Formats: sequence, C-alpha cells, structure tokens
Amino acid sequence: MPNNLPFMPNQGSTLAPHVDELYLFLVAVCAFMTVAISGVVVFLALKYKRGPGNEVPQEYKPSNALEIVWIVIPFAAFMAFFVWGAIVFFNARRMPDNAMDVWATGRQWMWKFQHPTGQTEINTLHVPVGRPVRLIMTSEDVIHDFFVPDFRVHTDVLPSRYTYNWFEATKVGRYHIFCSEYCGTEHSKMIGTVVVMEPEDYQLWLSGGATEGSPAAEGKKLFESLACVTCHQAGSGARGPNLEGVFGTTVKLTNGQVVTIDENYVRESILNPQAKIVSGFDPIMPTFQGQLNEAQLMQLVSYIKSMKAPEPARPAAAPAPAVNTAVTK
Ligand code: CUA
Repeated sequence: MPNNLPFMPNQGSTLAPHVDELYLFLVAVCAFMTVAISGVVVFLALKYKRGPGNEVPQEYKPSNALEIVWIVIPFAAFMAFFVWGAIVFFNARRMPDNAMDVWATGRQWMWKFQHPTGQTEINTLHVPVGRPVRLIMTSEDVIHDFFVPDFRVHTDVLPSRYTYNWFEATKVGRYHIFCSEYCGTEHSKMIGTVVVMEPEDYQLWLSGGATEGSPAAEGKKLFESLACVTCHQAGSGARGPNLEGVFGTTVKLTNGQVVTIDENYVRESILNPQAKIVSGFDPIMPTFQGQLNEAQLMQLVSYIKSMKAPEPARPAAAPAPAVNTAVTK
C-alpha cells in the first residue's frame, strides 16, 4: 500500500491503512465499472447505429446464462464491499483492552482533554506512540465532532452522553484535529493538534505538567462531599448498591432488563437516578442534575470505575508487578 499518496491524508494510525485499502478498492471497482460501461455503451452505439438495411431495431432476447452472469457478478462485488467493510468497521469499533483512557470535552469552540493522571490541556493532546488511546467524549453545549484525518478517526461528540473512539498512533509527529460538525460561528476555528511522542518523552511531558490530582482522586473527594457514600456502601442494610468492582459488569434492573455498567450508565444514574433502578433497591436517590458540571461528572465516573472489589483472601498470591513510571532515558 503506497503511503503518502498526494491526494490522501497521511497514515498516522494502525487503522489508517485498513481504511485506505478499502477506500482504494471501492475507487478501483467504480473506476473499472465506469470505464467498462461507458466503453460498452459507445461500442454498441456504433455497432448497432441506424443505417441502410438497419432502420428498425430487431428484438433481441438475452440468454439465461448472460442474465445469470450479470446478476451474480454484481452481487458478489457488493457482498465483497459489505464483508470487507464490516471487518474494517468491527475492528475500528472494538476498543483494545489495554487502551489508555483520555477524556475529551467539546465546547463552543475548543477541545479540552484530561489524561488519566490528571493533566488537562486545551486544543492539544499529547499521546505516546504505539499505545492505544481510548477517547471518552462529551459536549458541554451543542453537537461537535472529533476528527483526526491522519488517524481516520471521526466521531460525533454529543451533549448529555458519552461517545467513544480510539486510535493507536504509529508515527511520532503532529496531527490536525478538526471539529467536523457545524457548531456555530467559530466552528472553523475549533481545531487542535495531537502531539504523538516517544513513550519516554510522553512520561517526561506528564511529569512536567501541573496536575490537579487524577480524575479518580478528585472523584473520590466529590463522592464523599456529596455524601454518596452514606447509601452506596457494602453490607446488606445499605440503601443503594455497593459500587465496588461493579464497573464493566452487568446488573439486573427492577423491570427485569439487564444492563452493562459503563460510563453512560453511571452518568445517567447520577443525573436521572429513576431511569434504571437496580433490582432490589428503592427509587430513593435524588437527582444531581444541575449540581455537577461535565468535569465533575467525569471525575465521579472515573472514581466509580476505579473502585475495586475487595481482594478475596488468596493463599500465596504473587506480588503485583511494580509499575515503573520513572523516566528511563
Ligand atoms: Cu465544534 Cu464544529
């Protein structure tokens, strides 16, 4: 696959070559069909043009074999588009398990990013090369759209819910971010840059930024100051579900429905607690609509995500591998 074709954006992510191959295949098939059909039209127009002894067209009945051929071949071609497209789509939508979570908030007219370690930045996103980055995105006002052409990453960013996308940058460099949903007078200025760095440089950058505490740590403070903890605690008498270790699991609701506890479920349960009540509990939780801004919601969700179930006592458990965050260069 030729990289850096003059009419294509750079290929800056693991997804980009797969999107481009499919795109070029579609273009090649369309170009072939355009040339072939136009050629046949011109050829037949000349061959059967009106002339002496040929004033009235004769009826021609194509053979069944010919009918079958021009049904089967286009069908196979369209199925190839579909299957190939579905494979690329599923790979693009499946979030890698080892992805680093970055929160992104769009607002008229800027992008705000927060790293798992707490650093925030405006209109610039620093990421390490070769590491999947999962974006959890929301908007504080209208619909925006996070678009990095070089990564082939393109997702609407909506108010009042989270949408996701991910990318793994393959080359160190700077890449344009665009908003690609018309969002007001300065839509065209709602741009930014993804700065892809070597992992060591990224660690260095992280250690240089002033941090206001990780989102999860800030969320823990909120969880306590909003008194969530008085109901959401372990024990049989608790008035609300215990939240330790529940993130990512499924839960049964009072109406019998089973839902996965993800960012959007936690968000809805904070802002609209009556919407999906966990089976066995009463609808007594007050709403926090209007009391929390997007940043605080994000912190609470991060904290609930970070709450681990208490370790069951295990004999001779291997010690956890030490996490080395020190700069190695
Ligand atoms: Cu935000 Cu266009």
